[in-house]
Amino acid sequence: QVGDPFVLVIFGATGDLTARMLMPALTALCAGGHLPDNFVVLGASRTDLNDDSFRERMHAAATEFGSLPPGLWETLAPRLRYLQVHYDDPASFTALAAALDALAAAESLGGNRIFYLAVPPTAYEAIAINLANAGLAEETNGYARLVIEKPFGHDLQTARVLEAALHTRFSEHQIFRIDHYLAKETVQNILMLRFANAIFEPLWNRRYIDYVSILAAESIGVEHRASYYDHFGVLRDMFQNHMMQLLSLCAIEPPSLFEADLVRDEKTKVFRALRPFNPKALAEHCVLGQYASGMAGGSRAPAYLDEAGVPGDSTTPTFAAMRVHLDNWRWQGVPFYLISGKRLAEKRTEIAVQFKPVPFSMFRDLFGDTIQANRLILRIQPDEQVSLTFQAKAPGPMCLRSVTMNFNYYQGYQGAALTAYAKVLLDCMLGDQTLFWRQDGVELCWKFLTPVLDNPPADGLYLYRSGSWGPQEAGKYLRAHGLVS
Ligand code: BG6
Repeated sequence: QVGDPFVLVIFGATGDLTARMLMPALTALCAGGHLPDNFVVLGASRTDLNDDSFRERMHAAATEFGSLPPGLWETLAPRLRYLQVHYDDPASFTALAAALDALAAAESLGGNRIFYLAVPPTAYEAIAINLANAGLAEETNGYARLVIEKPFGHDLQTARVLEAALHTRFSEHQIFRIDHYLAKETVQNILMLRFANAIFEPLWNRRYIDYVSILAAESIGVEHRASYYDHFGVLRDMFQNHMMQLLSLCAIEPPSLFEADLVRDEKTKVFRALRPFNPKALAEHCVLGQYASGMAGGSRAPAYLDEAGVPGDSTTPTFAAMRVHLDNWRWQGVPFYLISGKRLAEKRTEIAVQFKPVPFSMFRDLFGDTIQANRLILRIQPDEQVSLTFQAKAPGPMCLRSVTMNFNYYQGYQGAALTAYAKVLLDCMLGDQTLFWRQDGVELCWKFLTPVLDNPPADGLYLYRSGSWGPQEAGKYLRAHGLVS
């Protein structure tokens, strides 16, 4: 699909996100023929650059973090422009508006504009206000879309403050709140698997499912992001967004159409059904941890507290496991175990759907109670696959064994998949908000997590060895996911 001509303004154009994610995504979209003939990417940031020096940086980024097929750069480079902008200076935005008008006229771009805020969230409000005051939120000659990255606030209250600031200038249909997990191929596949097949959905409920476990394990530590991470921790960094989205995709009812608001309406119903934590018994539902020293990738890894930029007395959790319930008809009594942490044994994101055991075994005299229940695993990364474990007769004497049917997501597929950021940019150009957060969902998830954020379990923060599967105290969650026996 190719959208209409547009200008993409990237605030924070000299930053990490632009170099690592946005430039490779743009080159992939260009290479895949997803961009219209007329478009311009206008880098905007505080650094004093010109078009040529900006292009040099972007060339280096596209080469280091993406791939540049022969001839592609020659097509892309002339599309890249640069303007120095000070985010809190209204005059900069008047100049931006004039530059956009001039570009539109010179390049026949029409009036479609995407403003991508690849800047720290503290700059969101000033940019939104200045854009609006310069008339750039208006949609008289085309669309005006604002793209923002998480975190959407630090808690419910700050999320609402941010929202008020954005919403007085931009309407909901103009705001694209990214969750890059939603744009991952295999995350999108969850709804396809559930609702484009007749065989799973009849079983997808409390009558047949024992529990669902959602794991997002990372082997990396806090890396160079300590100043951000220490302020947010795993609950805000992974749970309030990615984990909640994965949960909602596993749990939603089928909308009548695969359309942004219908899908998001269903997600909202899931978030509304989240059973509030009992603040007096949090420890029964949630275990928090922080990594101690250990091994990572074959070498010694420091403890979180010894990472550069982390205060020596930090109590920020880098691991969390929680048991969540949804109070609705479909899911009553089915626990959802959510587990995520940094510096765990390996990078693995997957959803395990554990079915209930057979109600009665006619083989009990032969095998006793050893019949294993079925398990469906949706592996999201790093190796994308769907596998179903079931019981079968072993060849030879009467004997039962557990076997696995495996589907590799890229099996038989020749084309190039879109990376999450390429998908995000493309959907934004096409105006499709299906894979973006809506504000009601953001607020409901903040509200749900507030008791744990405000009063973490009294028995504290458990240390776990880097390279392990997390604190021993999280045993029941890890067992549910089959990570420890
Ligand atoms: C980001 C978090 O949203 O997701 C990071 O801020 C985390 O801390 C990352 O490492 C994980 O994303 P992915 O795509 O590597 O699983």
